[in-house]
Amino acid sequence: MRVRVLGAAAGGGLPQWNCCCSVCRLARTDPQRVIPRTQSSIAVSIDGEQWALINCAPEILAQLQREPALQPKGHDRHTPIQSVLVTNGDVDHVAGLLSLRERSPFRLHATPEIHGVLRDNPIFNVLAADCVKRCDMALDSRIELLPGLMATVFAVPGKTALYLEGDQVDIGGEGESTVGVEFELDGQRLYYIPGCATVTPRLAQRLDGAATLLFDGTLWRDDEMILAGVGQKTGQRMGHMSMSGDDGSMKALSDVAIYRRIFIHINNTNPVLIEDSPERREAEGAGWEIAFDGMEITS
Ligand code: MLT
Ligand code: MN
Ligand code: ZN
Repeated sequence: MRVRVLGAAAGGGLPQWNCCCSVCRLARTDPQRVIPRTQSSIAVSIDGEQWALINCAPEILAQLQREPALQPKGHDRHTPIQSVLVTNGDVDHVAGLLSLRERSPFRLHATPEIHGVLRDNPIFNVLAADCVKRCDMALDSRIELLPGLMATVFAVPGKTALYLEGDQVDIGGEGESTVGVEFELDGQRLYYIPGCATVTPRLAQRLDGAATLLFDGTLWRDDEMILAGVGQKTGQRMGHMSMSGDDGSMKALSDVAIYRRIFIHINNTNPVLIEDSPERREAEGAGWEIAFDGMEITS
C-alpha cells in the first residue's frame, strides 16, 4: 500500500495567512528550518494507478499539481481519484471538495452524520449527484475503498467541527462526528487518525500490532496557542490531545506495538515543526516521525 502525504499541517496551514507566531515566521524567512506545509490530507493507492483521497483540504488543487500520479491521463477528462473519504466536517478536511466539481465521477465516503453536515451546506451541491456518489460509512464496518483495499472507519474521541459548535460542546465524545481510518492489505494494518482527543484503552488495543500509524500531531503542549499569544484555546478544547507530557500521545502510545509512527495534522504553533528544535529531537527520540507534504509511506 502506498500513502502520499498531500498536506501535513492542521487547520490554517503553515505558515497561516494571518499568523506571526515564531514557527510561522520561520516558515516565511527560513523554509529550510521550517518547511511550509499545506492542510490535512493523504492519498492512498495499491497500484499507483487508482487513488483514494482521505480528507480534502482547501489546497487540493495545488496538492494535485505537485503529484503527477494524481493527475489526469489521456486526451479529455479523466482522474485517477476513485474515491474521497472524509474523517470529520472540519474546513481543512472538506473545503477542497468544492474544487473537485467539474463532473468527474467519484465516490464520497463519510459517516451518515458527516454526510448530513455536507447536505446541510448547499454549496456542496456543486458535486453533481449524477457524478459524485455519496456513500454512507457505518462505524466499524469494512468497505472496499479501492479494488482490493479494505477500509474501516471507527469512532475516536473528538469534537464537532468549529462552525457547528453550539452553546454546549461535547468534547471527547465518541460517535460519527470524528473518525479514524483503518486500512488493511495482506494482513498489514495502517491507521490514519488526524484528530483525537484522547487515547482510550480501546483505541490502544486496536492500534496494537499496526504496521503504520499516522496520528494527530496538532499541538506539542496543551496551552501552546495561549503561550504563543495567538489564541485562548487549549488543545483539549479543540478536541486534540497534545504530543508531550503525562497526558500526551507519545506517552499514551509508548507501550503499544506500532512499527512506524508518524505525526500528521500539525498545527503551525507546534515547535516540532522546527527541524533542529529540542521538541523535534524529543519526538524523534521517542520513535516518532514528523510528516511533511510529499512524504511517501509504503506499508
Ligand atoms: C481542527 O482540527 O481543530 C480544526 O481544523 C480547526 C479549524 O477549524 O481551524
Ligand atoms: Mn483540523
Ligand atoms: Zn503560526
